Amino acid sequence: MTKFEYDHRLVLLPCHLLLCLSVICSCSAEAPAAAGHRPGCPAKCGDVDIPFPFGIGEQCALDGFQLGCNRSIGSRGTGSTSSKPFWGDFEVMSISVPDGKVRVKTLISSLCYDPATNLTTPFEASSDFTNSGFWISDADNKIVVIGCYTLAYMMSSSYVIGCLSRCDDALPLQNGSCSGNGCCQADVPKDITYYESYFNERYNGSVTWRQQDRRCGYMAVMEKAALDFRPSFVTSTVFNDTNNGKVPVILNWLIAQVSCRVARQNMSTYACVSSNSQCLDSTGKQPGYRCRCRNGYEGNPYITGGCQDIDDCLGNSNLCPFGVCVNTPGGYNCPCHPGNSTINGVCVPIQKPSRFPALPVVGASVGLVIIVIAIACACLIRERKKSQKMKENYFRQHGGLLLFEEMKSKQANSFKIFTKEELQKATDMFSAQRIVGRGGNGTVYRGLLEGNDLEVAVKRCMTIDEKQKAEFGKEMLILSQINHRNIVKLLGCCLEVEVPMLVYEFIPNGTLFQLIHGSHGQRLSLAARLEIAHESADALAYLHSCASPPILHGDVKSSNILIDADRKAKVSDFGTSILGATDESQFATFMQGTCGYLDPEYVQTCRMTYKSDVYSFGVVLLELLTRKKPVNLFAAEHEKSLSVVFLSAMKENKVAEILDEHIKDEEDNARFIQEIAELAKQCLEMYGENRPSMREVAEKLGGLRKGMHHHPWGKEAQEDTESLLGEPSSMASSTVSTEKIGITGLQSGR
Ligand SMILES: *[C@@H]1O[C@H](CO)[C@@H](O)[C@H](O)[C@H]1NC(C)=O
Ligand SMILES: *[C@@H]1O[C@H](CO)[C@@H](O)[C@H](O)[C@H]1NC(C)=O
Ligand SMILES: *[C@@H]1O[C@H](CO)[C@@H](O)[C@H](O)[C@H]1NC(C)=O
Ligand SMILES: *[C@@H]1O[C@H](CO)[C@@H](O)[C@H](O)[C@H]1NC(C)=O
Ligand SMILES: *[C@@H]1O[C@H](CO)[C@@H](O)[C@H](O)[C@H]1NC(C)=O
Ligand SMILES: *[C@@H]1O[C@H](CO)[C@@H](O)[C@H](O)[C@H]1NC(C)=O
Ligand SMILES: *[C@@H]1O[C@H](CO)[C@@H](O)[C@H](O)[C@H]1NC(C)=O
Repeated sequence: MTKFEYDHRLVLLPCHLLLCLSVICSCSAEAPAAAGHRPGCPAKCGDVDIPFPFGIGEQCALDGFQLGCNRSIGSRGTGSTSSKPFWGDFEVMSISVPDGKVRVKTLISSLCYDPATNLTTPFEASSDFTNSGFWISDADNKIVVIGCYTLAYMMSSSYVIGCLSRCDDALPLQNGSCSGNGCCQADVPKDITYYESYFNERYNGSVTWRQQDRRCGYMAVMEKAALDFRPSFVTSTVFNDTNNGKVPVILNWLIAQVSCRVARQNMSTYACVSSNSQCLDSTGKQPGYRCRCRNGYEGNPYITGGCQDIDDCLGNSNLCPFGVCVNTPGGYNCPCHPGNSTINGVCVPIQKPSRFPALPVVGASVGLVIIVIAIACACLIRERKKSQKMKENYFRQHGGLLLFEEMKSKQANSFKIFTKEELQKATDMFSAQRIVGRGGNGTVYRGLLEGNDLEVAVKRCMTIDEKQKAEFGKEMLILSQINHRNIVKLLGCCLEVEVPMLVYEFIPNGTLFQLIHGSHGQRLSLAARLEIAHESADALAYLHSCASPPILHGDVKSSNILIDADRKAKVSDFGTSILGATDESQFATFMQGTCGYLDPEYVQTCRMTYKSDVYSFGVVLLELLTRKKPVNLFAAEHEKSLSVVFLSAMKENKVAEILDEHIKDEEDNARFIQEIAELAKQCLEMYGENRPSMREVAEKLGGLRKGMHHHPWGKEAQEDTESLLGEPSSMASSTVSTEKIGITGLQSGR
């Protein structure tokens, strides 16, 4: 008898059909891997499983994964003793080896008002996992702020994210609803290894507390699934009490801070020791690797023999709809029952020889094939329809219809609505090799449009909320009408996807940040710097006063100013822009921007104005003058923020000391430098109303630039930069920048 075996591909087809017919088919159910530990080591501490690479004691854990198991008296004096695992100071609640996560407890930060003393006392917690191979999972956690008019920030080495929990007595607080009233939550940025919390005490909270019996506001970076908001969290201390002052947070971990390729070079330290295990390189910014068991295996890849074959057949009666399920290492087979044979992938009883042996079999199998094909087609058509419908839905949600109507009436515009397929083709299915930038609110890909061979930058936004969704089409319409030589042109957008995508012209020569702080900066003459400053100021002035409605940029910084092939400055990234500036939209619940550039008034009031852009532009002027970064984390406390250093130098008449050597050396520059420094000082005024308008800044810079052209050195200096930007450079560019720099600008405002 011949032995017939199914392979996986053949099994898949019937499975798809079953799925389509709404019968649950668990083709690849992944059973949770069992915890594994080194022989002779404790498997548990209290109720918590301790799988290797974690362990208790030096011999039982990999370096950096050692836990302590401390005996502690049961809380609230129940008398019982129980043990709890600790990683450093953090109590460990659970460990997951397959996805490289660990759940630990962190402190809740609080700001409480004491009516006895009339004082508000903050408790501002911080967590630091730097250099440990652990970081805060952005997918599993949220920044949560609870309270009445409580404004708190999570500050990391690269981001400041604020969240304002308001308290509108007209809106009742609701169970489970954390959307701004009594409770607010914000996304955790990727790759955060360190944060501090910070309450804005000058915010309205204390007033409200004094009047009512609302005593505390809270802030925590915590597991989003663990937040179950109750109105009592706002009116009492129950949030802190029930959690004992701590909440769970999920951390990702990697085994070591080297890539798989490097790790394999030293087999004595390589951690994926089990047979049938694989090494996975880190996909984020953290360097390192993890191990996993190959498909079809489960268990702990970090211990010898840890990956065990999964018995696929066990409890999986749907796997082999026709034959018998036989488990094999890493998979399974579906041979027919003895006495049956396979025809067209289906087991049928072997026919007794007869006068017309072949006919019924062939007839049956042909019929079966036809039925299979028919069902497959029906499925395919249904899937197509579903996906078409989804696209149409997104299109409508994003205001696509409005946009479409308007486009028809304004034929002249070059703005285009792209389809998802067009952009996929242009960017090689959003291949990682095409990424040119990753910003706070999206990823930018370099793309080539088919047909007209036009290079574009495609920006894929991160999530946007419901309200923004409805407004998106309208915003696109306004942005598409902006036409200024120093503003990156928006060519079109794609609305068929869950989060909209924007298509911009591609600017080839990198950002101003790279130009100043890269090695090329030293060869940039004052004239060239002035030119870039004037062009950028002009673009911002245009947004503020000539666009209709006026537009706030919201995130002005040197890495959002791009340099094109003709060394013209181009302002980009309206990601945080606030259109129209009606009262409602000026007042954002989420705070965003980049440290070192943030308007101190905005940090205090949460209200972004046109003068916030002026402040940020002032910082850009400082960068041009000093070639220093807006924040320097490694400097002494009072020297971290460039604007603070500059303002105190101005006061003491010592500006010359912080200027970039190269422009100081150019003769006859002193008068111009003096005037630019004076202008920067005005831009950095504490109160927005004392700052000049963007138009005034642009006019002033324009005047200086003209003065410089009459200057004997102006001409030569220009030629110098021409050659600099003409040469091929390593500055791959993007329309959105990634530089998010330090936090200390904010702290110094305290
Ligand atoms: C756990 O016990 C060890 C040794 O007894 C001690 O050094 C450590 O501080 C304890 N950790 C906690 C969080 O209690
Ligand atoms: C707290 O403020 C209230 C109202 O302003 C005042 O009556 C009370 O004396 C103050 N108490 C203390 C301890 O300062
Ligand atoms: C909110 O949840 C609590 C506890 O589950 C329950 O007692 C209360 O009735 C709920 N309130 C509302 C408005 O649903
Ligand atoms: C501060 O609170 C008062 C009521 O206590 C309210 O009228 C006022 O608008 C609040 N200010 C801000 C900035 O929210
Ligand atoms: C929160 O709870 C912890 C532990 O019970 C306690 O030490 C801390 O003082 C509490 N904080 C507030 C603001 O109530
Ligand atoms: C491999 O690592 C071990 C432990 O760190 C070290 O002693 C050994 O010298 C390394 N071997 C090589 C070939 O680098
Ligand atoms: C295969 O053989 C078994 C037992 O010999 C029988 O019960 C079954 O009907 C046959 N046909 C199929 C399609 O499995």
